[in-house]
Parts: sequence; C-alpha cells; structure tokens
Amino acid sequence: MTDPHPYLAGLVLAGRKVVVVGGGHVAQRRVPTFLAAGAEVTLVSPEVTPALEGLAGELTLHLRDFTETDLDGAWYVVAVTDDPAVNARVAAAAESRHTFCVRADDALGGSAWTPAVGHHGSVTIGVLGNREPRKSAALRDDIVTALRDGHLTATDAHDRSPGVVLVGGGPGEPDFVTVAARHALASADVVVADRLAPRELLDELGPHVELIDVAKLPRGRSASQDAINEVIVARARAGKRVVRFKGGDSFVFGRGFEELLACAAADVPVTVVPGLTSALSVPARVGIPVTHRGVAHEFTVISGHLPPGHPDSLVAWDAVARMRGTIVLLMAVDNAPAIAAALVGGGRSADTPAAVIVDGTMPTERTVLSTLGSLADDLATHRVVPPAIIVIGEVVAVARPAHYGRA
Ligand SMILES: C[S@@+](CC[C@H](N)C(=O)[O-])C[C@H]1O[C@@H](n2cnc3c(N)ncnc32)[C@H](O)[C@@H]1O
Repeated sequence: MTDPHPYLAGLVLAGRKVVVVGGGHVAQRRVPTFLAAGAEVTLVSPEVTPALEGLAGELTLHLRDFTETDLDGAWYVVAVTDDPAVNARVAAAAESRHTFCVRADDALGGSAWTPAVGHHGSVTIGVLGNREPRKSAALRDDIVTALRDGHLTATDAHDRSPGVVLVGGGPGEPDFVTVAARHALASADVVVADRLAPRELLDELGPHVELIDVAKLPRGRSASQDAINEVIVARARAGKRVVRFKGGDSFVFGRGFEELLACAAADVPVTVVPGLTSALSVPARVGIPVTHRGVAHEFTVISGHLPPGHPDSLVAWDAVARMRGTIVLLMAVDNAPAIAAALVGGGRSADTPAAVIVDGTMPTERTVLSTLGSLADDLATHRVVPPAIIVIGEVVAVARPAHYGRA
C-alpha cells in the first residue's frame, strides 16, 4: 500500500507564534516567509547567519541551545539545525504538544512538509512532491511562469465583459507580447487579427473563439478600416468580448485611435493594452540603440508611407534633416530613396550611417547596413521588402563600428 498523501493546508500565521530551531541557511530561507505571513517568529540557535542577525528586530532571538519549553504556545515549529539529534528532540517535543513540526533533515520524522510555494496576483500555489523538493520547485516554477505569461489562466480572473480590447502584439516574436496581451487573448470571444500581429499566438485560441483575419476584409486602406470598425462594434454590441490584435503598439501608426473613436461613438466599452512598438524593439533586438550618451539626444519616429513633397505629407523633412539625432522610419521601403535624398538635400551628410532591419524578431530577420548616400542602391541590391525599420544616425555606427571603420 502506498503512503497516504499529505493534506495541503494554508496556515494563517498572522499574530501566531512560530518557532524556528536552527540559525543556518535553511532558517535564513524560511524566516522571511514566516515574517511575511505576519507570524510572531521565535528563533533558537547558539549561532545565526549574518542575514538572520539582521532580522533580529523583527523576531525574538534566543542565542542558545534549544529547550523543550521554547515550544510553549507555538502553533508551528521548524527544526532546521544541522544536528539530527537536536531536530529529533524538537520534533518529539512538538509532537507531544500536538504542534505541527517540519524537520529539514528527515521529512518523515516531522508531522508537516514544506511545499514549494509561488505567488501570482492573489493566488498562492503550493506543490508537494513525494519528498522530492527539486521536482516540486521545478513544477512550481513552471506553474508560476505559465500563469505570468498567460499560458495558464485562472478563467474566472479574466474580465469577460462585452466590449473591445485594442491589443498591441509587439514586433512579431511571441515572446515579446505582454502578459496583459495574453490575458486579453485568453478572455476573447472574437479576435480580429492583423497581418503583422504575432500569428503563433492565434493557434492557442480556444475552438469557440471566432477569428477574423483582417487580410480577408475588403481591400483598400479606408474600406478595410471601415469594415474593421463595423465588425468590432457589431460583435461587441452582440455581447461579445472582442480583441483587436495588431502588430507593435496600436497607437503607433496602427490606426488604433480610429477604432477607439468608432467604439466610443457606438457607446461600446473599449480598453487599450499597449504593445512593444517595432520602432523601438526591432532596433533594440539587433543591438542598435536609438539613443546613446554623447551621440544622440533625440530620436524621431516617422512614417515613410508618403514621399517628401507629397501634398498629403505632414512631415517637415527639411526640419528633420536639420536635427542631429536618430531617425526611425516605418513603412518607408518604397520611399526610402526619396527620403534619403531629401535628408541629404536638407543638410545631413551622405555618410550618415543607416541600418535596415527586415522582418525584425522573426526567423527571417536580417539587417542591411548602409548610409544615406547609398541607401537606395543597397535596398535594391538586397531586395528589401516590407516590413522593415530603417534607423538613420550615428547610433548605427556606435553599434556596428567595424562596418563603418570606427573600430
Ligand atoms: C502600419 S505600421 C504598424 C506599426 C506598429 N503599430 C508598431 O507599433 O510597430 C507597419 C510598419 O511597422 C514596421 N514593422 C512592424 N513590425 C515590424 C517587424 N517585425 N520588423 C520590421 N519592421 C516592422 C514596418 O515599417 C511596417 O511597414
């Protein structure tokens, strides 16, 4: 017959006496958790570690050998000396007082076992292996990690109320999605996903979730945006929780605010989960900083979807050319030759370093190093197609000194 399983309980120790016998490293690990639980800790040991000595103000410290009466009034006892005979005496004294006792050196010699404990929000997780502390700790770590990154969800903890959540999905690699984004996806009835949103995460959606692929909605920038606004509002009005899932951050060239306004106009509740914008995370991922002390005191993020001089352009390229800091261009592959020419024409040196990062954070990621003067040729030579981030400025040379002869 196998041993019966231990009974796992949550002890409410606030204001209750807990006795720790022993002053070494095991005590050092346990005492802070008892203090955090509000216990009145008594520590008995002829010697203690400096860390425990530092806690002296928060507990009752007896720097001497253990005596049975130390357990008087105790609710819980921990025997963690390095002397098995002393631990046995502590366990026996606890047993005779009907007080639960953990024995560090011999689990079966005590009446309680310490679980591997983890916390996530308001939840406490305890794992008790069959006296296999490493296995318990590993499982505890897995559970806490899964809760933190949203792979494991306490369903009831999710807000499932009808409405729209605008979720920024980061640059593409699923690891760069936020915990809040994962929670939002886990709570969704409907997910409206963009091409640049991290697609792998969509595989994890439950079978009940309606997935609407924006690429399949009517084409053309305005037509598709109207269709998106309509569908998110309609589903939310039908009582669904809708996640609008897109790449980067919804408010950085993501038309997220148009969707927010459409929801507001329709009286549909809308919340925003910010994402890691590709403008910053893609350069960072390949080790290119957008600022560097003594090199760049500003960075400017610009959409390059219209060329300089276009009647609808809102960018003062001549002013940008006169600035000295870093320029980060999005949606600029097609217009990069015209933009580079405008910047050089406006006063930036043709030697200014430029880096083009294609498919940032994805398996196909690559970086093309160039300069403003040779950007047009390099984009053609390397057959660069979107999505790409173009970083212009001395920071590129700081990050790749050998390429620019600065090593
Ligand atoms: C419509 S904008 C959306 C930007 C997004 N809201 C953000 O914050 O990253 C699309 C442009 O973002 C850039 N982009 C997005 N993800 C990228 C990635 N993984 N690698 C390179 N560029 C990316 C490209 O310039 C692309 O043309």
